Amino acid sequence: MVVFGITGDLSFKKIIPALYTMVRHGALRVPVIGVARDHWGPEQLRDRVRDSVRSAERDVDEESLNQLFELVRFVSGDYKDPSTFTELKKTLNSSKRPIFYLAIPPSLFEGVVNKLHDSGCADNGRLIIEKPFGRDYESARELNRVLGSVFDEEDIFRIDHYLGKEAVLNMLYFRFSNSFLEPVWNRNYVQSIEITMAENFGVEGRGAFYEEVGCIRDVIQNHLLNLIVILAMEPPAGRIDEALIDEKLKITKAIRPLQAGDVVRGQFRGYRDEKGVAESSQVETFAALRLFVNSWRWEGVPFYVRAGKYLPVHATEIMVRFHRPPYAVFQEDHVNQSNYIRFRLSPNIAIAMGSRIKKPGDKMQGKQNELYVSESIVDEMMPYERLIGDAMEGDPTLFTDKVATEVAWRIVDPVLAQPTELFFYDKYSWGPSEVESRIRPPQGWNDPKV
Ligand code: BG6
Repeated sequence: MVVFGITGDLSFKKIIPALYTMVRHGALRVPVIGVARDHWGPEQLRDRVRDSVRSAERDVDEESLNQLFELVRFVSGDYKDPSTFTELKKTLNSSKRPIFYLAIPPSLFEGVVNKLHDSGCADNGRLIIEKPFGRDYESARELNRVLGSVFDEEDIFRIDHYLGKEAVLNMLYFRFSNSFLEPVWNRNYVQSIEITMAENFGVEGRGAFYEEVGCIRDVIQNHLLNLIVILAMEPPAGRIDEALIDEKLKITKAIRPLQAGDVVRGQFRGYRDEKGVAESSQVETFAALRLFVNSWRWEGVPFYVRAGKYLPVHATEIMVRFHRPPYAVFQEDHVNQSNYIRFRLSPNIAIAMGSRIKKPGDKMQGKQNELYVSESIVDEMMPYERLIGDAMEGDPTLFTDKVATEVAWRIVDPVLAQPTELFFYDKYSWGPSEVESRIRPPQGWNDPKV
């Protein structure tokens, strides 16, 4: 396995800890070749690997860490210099099925892929790439064209780590393994669907990267759209691996492209002082959207999406809200507390159903109660461990399909091409005040509690 960008942030936070866990679980036995521009010696790389594993894991198994050290090699050089790839080819030696992980800025993808081809490294190889896949529909198509000119489509794995999360897989499982859901999972019963992805921290030194992407490209066009797809798709029929990809694509195509009135963009005060950020940056660190799905099942049901940096909590939560009963038999005003299904994706994982029950006592008055269908504290398996393992096995089920990545851009392209007004918000608030007046779910936003 070859990791481009082994000294970078993504490798430090996600890839190296995942490789360590794979070693620990006996799932990684092949050499790992790190490639980076830094001129590091083996000792430095070892220290980096150790720091990365220690900062991700509480109980580090020294034997597994040593096994990982044994597997790691390093190739240092510029990604634009052909000699880096000659060196890589030598280090790959007689490798029969190399897999290349591009944990590098998207602007470098095409150059690296072409050089992998020219140097012969790519022969019989597989490729893992990280989002964002392009910057818009056209660039995504161009990127796919370049990748496809070097690798077979079945050998390309586009990672959206949300698809490897236990909570997301559980959502998919829950939807299609329970017969009681299907009769109510449509416009007749569902009033609205709401997704909040809140982070109580900023861009954490990634200002230059974030300036290139902004909130919509960073997490909405991929992670959160993928959640909508899982919530809204039709039941896959037939072979799950193929059918899942087909149904996801179908529903992605049915999501209506955004219009200016469906978006509120925000920027936290202080963002422009971050390193790598322009003084007059117009990049959004927050966005609230209203989306619709053009289908019989979902016609007229609004999907509200809200994501941002420096919000009051760190949590991701989905609320599927059902219409209130048609008539208030007990004359109570419970407009804000109708039935719902709540999917908590992080920091803990839960599926809960909201319902009304009577408060004990002589009056026919109710209270809100939650029935927990499932609850756990953490992911059993890290998404990156699951996804890297799947890519090495050649299993495409949890990866983003080529055409779906392109089509997903069509949904957000109109508001990226002509960005709407930018509003400012204070750190640790729920975004700009304009959200309440412009993009507000019928029952108000659900602020996840932690
Ligand atoms: C990444 C984004 O894809 O996802 C980050 O680039 C974001 O900006 C992260 O913080 C969130 O992932 P998770 O798994 O912590 O919710």
